[in-house]
Amino acid sequence: MKITGKSKVFGIIGWPVSHSLSPVFQNAAFEYLGLDCCYVPFPVEAGKIDAAMRAIPALNIAGLNVTVPHKESVISCLSALSEEAMMIGAVNTITVSGDRLVGHNTDGQGFIASLSEAGEPVDGRSILILGAGGASRAVVFSLAEGGASTIIIANRTVSKAESLTEQVRQRFPAVKIEATGMEHADLKRVFHNVDMIINTTSIGLKIEDPSPAPKEFLHKDLFVCDLIYNPPDTELIRYAKELCRGHMNGSGMLIHQGAASFKLWTGIEPPIQVMRQALQDALQHRSTSSR
Ligand code: ATR
Repeated sequence: MKITGKSKVFGIIGWPVSHSLSPVFQNAAFEYLGLDCCYVPFPVEAGKIDAAMRAIPALNIAGLNVTVPHKESVISCLSALSEEAMMIGAVNTITVSGDRLVGHNTDGQGFIASLSEAGEPVDGRSILILGAGGASRAVVFSLAEGGASTIIIANRTVSKAESLTEQVRQRFPAVKIEATGMEHADLKRVFHNVDMIINTTSIGLKIEDPSPAPKEFLHKDLFVCDLIYNPPDTELIRYAKELCRGHMNGSGMLIHQGAASFKLWTGIEPPIQVMRQALQDALQHRSTSSR
C-alpha cells in the first residue's frame, strides 16, 4: 500500500483497539479501488474522547469508526446524529465535513444485510435475542424496523431487557415485544415460540465458553445467529450445525457494517468480496498463529 502526501486518513477509535480487524478489510478495499486513502487504529482511552474528537478536524482526518468503550460517550462531542444513531443511542461511524462531525450507526443495517445474504428475511419473523447490551440495541431496533412480528429479549439483568423492550414498543407499537431472564426456565418458556435466535452476549468469545442457550432447546426449524466471529464456531454455532436448519456467525455483520461506513465516507460502492476475503485471511492467520 502506497501512502502519499495527499493520502486521506480514516481510522477506528477504541480502547483497546489493537485487536480490530477493520484496518485489514478497509485498507484492502482502498487498495483494490486504487484510492489514495489509508485506515489506521487510534487507541483512545475512555477519559480522552473529547480531546480526540476536537483534534479530528484539525488533523484533517476524513472519517472514523467508533468502537468500545466510546460508542455512546462520543455522542456529546458530535454536531449531529443520523436517525439510526439517534434511535439506537450509539455511534459506530463518524463523517467529517469541515468542522462538522456527524454520527451514524451502521451496525443494525450491517446485521440485516448479512441476514439477507444468508437468505433470511426479517419480515413477519418471531425472533429471540439473547443479551440487551449495545450490540443487542442495534440488532433489536433494526429487526423492529425490518418488520419482525415478535421479538423476545432475554437478558441476565432482566431490567435492561425491560428498558430496551419499552423503548422499542414506543417507537414500533405494531411489534409484539417482551422481556425475560436468561435462566433455564425463562428460555424454556420462550424457545418454542420463535423461528430465529440471535446471540448478542459476549458468551462464546472465549474458546472454552459454554453455549448461551441449552442444546436441548435447539431444533430443526430454528435459524441461529451468533454475532461473535472470532472464534468463528462458538459452542452455539456447533450445536446449530448439528440440530438447526441454518446458522450464521458475526463475520457478515462485521463486513457489512464496515462496507456501509465506507459508502458513507467515499460515496463509492464498497468491494464486499474483497473486504470479506481480507477478513477471512486475517482470521485464518490469527487462528494458525495462535495454535
Ligand atoms: P456489547 O456492546 O458487545 O453488546 P455490552 O453492552 O457490554 O457489550 O453487553 C454485553 C451483553 O452480554 C449483556 O447483555 C450482558 O448481560 P448483562 O446485561 O446482564 O450484563 C451479556 N453477558 C455478558 N456476560 C454474560 C454472562 N456471563 N452471562 C449472561 N450474560 C452475559
